[in-house]
Amino acid sequence: MVPKPLFAVLTVLSLLAIASAVVAAQTPAWMNPSLTPDARADLVLAQMTKAEKLRLVVGTSQRPQGDAFGPAGFVPGVARLGIPALRESNAELGVAVAQRGDAVRKDDEATALPSGLAPAASWNPSIAYANGAMIGQEARRMGFNVLLAGAVNLARDPRAGRNFEYAGEDPLLAGMMVGASIRGIQDQHVISTLKHFALNDQETNRTVLDAQIDPAALRESDLLAFEIAIEQGRPGAVMCAYNMIDRVHACEDGELLDRVLRREWGFRGWVMSDWGAVHSTVTAARAGLDQESGSDWDSRAFFGKPLGVAFAEGALPRKRLDEMAHRILRTMFAKGVIDHPPAVAPLDVDRDARVAQRAEEEGIVLLRNRNDLLPLSSQVRSIAVIGGHADIGVLSGGGSSQVVPLGGPALRIEYRNAHSATPSAMVFDPSSPLRAIAAQAPAAHIAFVAGDDRDAAARAADVAIVFATQWEMEGRDSATLSLPGDQDRLIAAVAAANPRTVVVLETGDPVTMPWRNRVGAILEAWYPGARGGPAIANILFGAVDPSGRLPQTFPASADQLPRPEIPGRHIPWNTTFTVDYSEGASVGYKWFDARHLTPLYPFGFGLSYTHFRYGDLRLAGGKTITATFTVTNEGKRSGADVPQLYATIPGAKGNATRLVGWSKVALAPGESRRIRIAVDPRLLAQLDDRHQHWDIKPGAYRLDLGASSLDLRLAATALVAAQTMPP
Ligand code: BGC
Repeated sequence: MVPKPLFAVLTVLSLLAIASAVVAAQTPAWMNPSLTPDARADLVLAQMTKAEKLRLVVGTSQRPQGDAFGPAGFVPGVARLGIPALRESNAELGVAVAQRGDAVRKDDEATALPSGLAPAASWNPSIAYANGAMIGQEARRMGFNVLLAGAVNLARDPRAGRNFEYAGEDPLLAGMMVGASIRGIQDQHVISTLKHFALNDQETNRTVLDAQIDPAALRESDLLAFEIAIEQGRPGAVMCAYNMIDRVHACEDGELLDRVLRREWGFRGWVMSDWGAVHSTVTAARAGLDQESGSDWDSRAFFGKPLGVAFAEGALPRKRLDEMAHRILRTMFAKGVIDHPPAVAPLDVDRDARVAQRAEEEGIVLLRNRNDLLPLSSQVRSIAVIGGHADIGVLSGGGSSQVVPLGGPALRIEYRNAHSATPSAMVFDPSSPLRAIAAQAPAAHIAFVAGDDRDAAARAADVAIVFATQWEMEGRDSATLSLPGDQDRLIAAVAAANPRTVVVLETGDPVTMPWRNRVGAILEAWYPGARGGPAIANILFGAVDPSGRLPQTFPASADQLPRPEIPGRHIPWNTTFTVDYSEGASVGYKWFDARHLTPLYPFGFGLSYTHFRYGDLRLAGGKTITATFTVTNEGKRSGADVPQLYATIPGAKGNATRLVGWSKVALAPGESRRIRIAVDPRLLAQLDDRHQHWDIKPGAYRLDLGASSLDLRLAATALVAAQTMPP
């Protein structure tokens, strides 16, 4: 006889078992998270109709019916099978809800991060990761499950209009930083792209330009940045670019999308097009394009119906459609967007603002500090703050990455770009440097001057701080390296009136500085983001030691560049033309090094308020090089340094000097640390494109340890063995 209480328990248990069996019968097998993403995708696919598969491979930028948001991209799901729609937002620098000329909506506001060159200048992947995690969390709360983020095009030209979204000119640095930010995004169960694959390295005529480059050099430069970012970030999707490469549209380039990306790098996600970058149905699908995004931007729809016809007529094998849909579905399962759907909720604005502030504080680069003008004392009696709308906010970059800042823009100036469908405006984020400076020097008399009386104000003050701005945007490159308008003249005049002049640059790219030797201090603050004001003030007054280092060479003049003019500037819009990347993999500092050119400021450069010494560099050779060395903070303040290792590749025809490693080291006064860096062997290799492998030539390799690509302080050599590696 079963005792009564036990009987009752058993009854409840058996009822529960029956109930869960009923639920299991209703829960489709693909919702079982213990199955692999591939198995789950196959189970869904088996239930899908051809029409449903065809819908999954086409996106639109049109607002879906009844949808209050305006995602940049939308792909309907398969509701009857529990597959959600893909709701895509741009998000390199924060969640950037697409603006459609409507009044700015409160719900579109998000935390604006500093521009991409700031986290890149931090040389600290954990900053990039935190940025990504913050973006991913905000995206979930705003209802997005795919972020068009992870922009890693190399800065081949310091006038290119989107460099501010990217991570500089070096493939290792850019790949590591962008990969870390993608990891941060996807750890929140949001899919991230990696874009724009590949060679969309300038904006002028970007949709029709034909980029010519030696294939091996491409692998050692732009593609290496993508390869490293894929390894580090495992993005769910890769976005193919607008331009052509060697006369083939990037979204039709089988070499790139199939051979390199899939077969050599083992990419398992899906390839989506950039908006308006598709030009064919069969050719693109054969080459490896899995999804036509923003199909309403293309000259006509190429996927969807025309794709259905191509399958029906046998122009494409039927299994290709399954493959396309499988890649999308498996990624949705693998990255967790189905098991952990976004849940709309208010943003955690304080926490997120701290992320933005830290990224800016670690990304600001101190370029000059004559007679230790900085840090300023909080006892300073009077400060003239001049220009750049520093009373109300900080500048941001324009185009699809433009975040609608929390609290709305401090200033918004509409801009009509005749050559781009993307609406643009010059937006100042509402974080006032003036207020933040005043908070650090409460007893000081602080005047803000924007008008003609600037020299007089500078003369009357203990210190003059000039804010100079250079606005850049998607779809347009800068014509020159100069600060726009009369800012060079203004800075020179202020410096003549007061030698204690500090220049704070808010620029999207390197600029020339004809006044450089006449001012006391220069800070490169990039586009500073949601807490730009306090971050700049913390550096100015020394609450934070400047530890940013340049991720891009600052040229002394345009004559030093491989192309003194931006290509295509004088060619009628939408006329195909060639950009000859004859510098190959010698991008940025590598070009300057090979040509013995002295830049204005070299790659990797940045000052601190303390001093660091490097010692005892030792190398171990073999299959790669492992370096150990000591960094010591010799000054009286805490600070962080970025010791950098550069290799010289014996016998290399181009791309001979390469950044092969670095470490971001925070040290208290007098503290030392031993650092160990194992070099990725690919960075010692040359790509043998004919034989399709990385090739390390045996010999003595020299490694320099330095504080920039020019300030090389210690050197040693190591013997490296011959080696070939699969690409
Ligand atoms: C840009 C992409 C962006 C897309 C969607 C394109 O014009 O090149 O970076 O993700 O638009 O807004």
